[in-house]
Amino acid sequence: MILLDGKATAAEIRAEIREEVDGLEAKYGRRPGLAVVLVGEDPASQVYVRNKERACEDCGIRSIPHRLETAGQLELEGLIHELNRDVTVDGILVQLPLPEGLDSQKILDLIDPDKDVDGFHPVNVGKMSLGLPGFKPCTPAGVINLLKRYDLDPACKKAVVIGRSNIVGKPLAMMLSQSGPCANATVTLCHSRTQNLAEVCREADFLFAAIGRPNFVTADMVKEGAVVVDVGINRTDEGLAGDCDFNALKDKVHAITPVPGGVGPMTIAQLMVNTLQAFKLHVGA
Ligand code: GUN
Repeated sequence: MILLDGKATAAEIRAEIREEVDGLEAKYGRRPGLAVVLVGEDPASQVYVRNKERACEDCGIRSIPHRLETAGQLELEGLIHELNRDVTVDGILVQLPLPEGLDSQKILDLIDPDKDVDGFHPVNVGKMSLGLPGFKPCTPAGVINLLKRYDLDPACKKAVVIGRSNIVGKPLAMMLSQSGPCANATVTLCHSRTQNLAEVCREADFLFAAIGRPNFVTADMVKEGAVVVDVGINRTDEGLAGDCDFNALKDKVHAITPVPGGVGPMTIAQLMVNTLQAFKLHVGA
């Protein structure tokens, strides 16, 4: 069994970015800048934001924190406009979920698509669906990057994605089914209304779990020798748990990601990749 070590792979990617950023700073006289906007006190969001800021530091990217205890819709919209205008800000990330009462989609729609390092703006979603260059959401792009680094190519294989969120499942299904490197799969996108889910999953050569329910994927749902990617991060009384029952699956699969240390660190590494991409776009590198 191959353990898909996202933590080690993400560290490699961060080191590569660091080297490139140092070279670019010498040439262009500034570092990439990432504005991270956090509203409210959601503990999980606070951890994610701290990890993103640490990754920036590691990569030589300037992180520009905006932590607001509370914010009204207009205040937050004003901040986005300000960050859009600031030429030293290459990427803008608004940590989701926003507190109740704020219109997230309206906020995301205001972010300059050339600074949308999360790939959530409709322009970037549209570009991705057309196979055009743009920013891709960090979690699915990080998943594909992890597979690439382990030479696990889903081309011509059956891929099953469980979960149809806008952040993970939907874009991941799209990316896997497109033409290009580490793609070209035949994709089935499953969700809460899917019938005979276990049966569908058992067909998968590549199984991606993005449901948000601890240990949802059990051994009977997985084909012998499959590649399993667990996108879930669930807080339980026993600590963090993925969407897959890792212990039950590990002797049956060809490869699997652990939780923690699988997809999570890859998401953050991909944010650094996207921020570097935004910087290059802005300086014309
Ligand atoms: N909340 C959960 N995942 C994400 C993500 O990828 N980006 C942002 N901005 N918020 C999130």
